[in-house]
Amino acid sequence: MTERIDGEAVAADIRESLTGSIEALREEGVEPGLATVLMSDDPASETYVSMKQRDCKEVGIDGLHVEIDTDAPPAELYDTIEDLNNDPHVHGILVQMPLVDGIDERRVLRSIDPMKDVDGFHPENVGRLVAGNDRYRPCTPHGVQKLLEAYDIETEGADAVVVGRSNIVGKPLANLLFRKADDGNATVTVCHSRTEALAEKTRTADILVAAAGIPELIDAGMVAEGATVIDVGVNRVDVPNRRSEDSRAESAEADTERGYELVGDVAYEDVSEIAGAITPVPGGVGPMTRAMLLYNTVKAAGLQNDIDVTLP
Ligand SMILES: NC(=O)c1ccc[n+]([C@@H]2O[C@H](COP(=O)([O-])OP(=O)(O)OC[C@H]3O[C@@H](n4cnc5c(N)ncnc54)[C@H](OP(=O)(O)O)[C@@H]3O)[C@@H](O)[C@H]2O)c1
Repeated sequence: MTERIDGEAVAADIRESLTGSIEALREEGVEPGLATVLMSDDPASETYVSMKQRDCKEVGIDGLHVEIDTDAPPAELYDTIEDLNNDPHVHGILVQMPLVDGIDERRVLRSIDPMKDVDGFHPENVGRLVAGNDRYRPCTPHGVQKLLEAYDIETEGADAVVVGRSNIVGKPLANLLFRKADDGNATVTVCHSRTEALAEKTRTADILVAAAGIPELIDAGMVAEGATVIDVGVNRVDVPNRRSEDSRAESAEADTERGYELVGDVAYEDVSEIAGAITPVPGGVGPMTRAMLLYNTVKAAGLQNDIDVTLP
């Protein structure tokens, strides 16, 4: 029987535990605060930021949102980040990517105080992660690790294949999976757009992570019997063009209204027949990414105030 990995449920447990950690911080006089910065007209980015703010409210993190006009000079963004770096009530800063054209995203990431870099993308935090001495693990890879842990999926000695080598998902996740640690110790193959014979590689995986951003790239023929399949992909597909008529009928009405549906990088219905465990989209990795942002914010508030917080 294929196990459906329920990211909503695991994320809810993490949020629940975090409310306790937040309460403990409050008792020490610290109100954890997260600032989100948006400089983009992209509707998906607007949605992501508002969901992050909603999550903060739900667990009791102080949410501050700064929106910068897309016509504003880059200096306005850097000044905003500087102000947030210096604001003691803000423990985490998240600049929603992608930014408008013409802004140097690497420079933006470098300008965030690494102690407040709850995305974990500042070069200092990337370096620490690679060196096995992480401060903030990037939210999506960390969320994947927490899902594996919640479902007792052993990484030690496993053959893991990660499809995608981006800085935000593939690279950090590969690093976390192969590093010498209880939640690592896998043998990792990283695939990308120039990989030849992709299916041959993915079929070797005990744990297959799809993070390519290509709707239903991974089909049943690319998966070994009993493998754990983690689908990081979130792709908007126009409803009239969708590839598979699946049974998730409850979301179909909303999809039609929006004009698109969200599809993963894995052909869920077919791969479910083969996999040992699989994450759905939506409801798999997405909620975990959001929960791990809250986790990093709580951790950041503790670190910046020398308080040893218990984290889930
Ligand atoms: N659920 C969540 O919380 C969450 C969070 C972040 C991202 N996502 C989703 O995850 C997906 C990946 O995001 P990302 O930011 O990592 O994307 P990205 O920066 O576009 O990277 C995609 C990676 O996939 C590789 N790739 C593209 N086509 C491929 C193919 N046909 N075969 C093998 N590899 C291929 C690319 O190779 P090259 O390096 O050669 O170009 C690249 O390394 C997207 O759908 C995104 O929306 C979800």
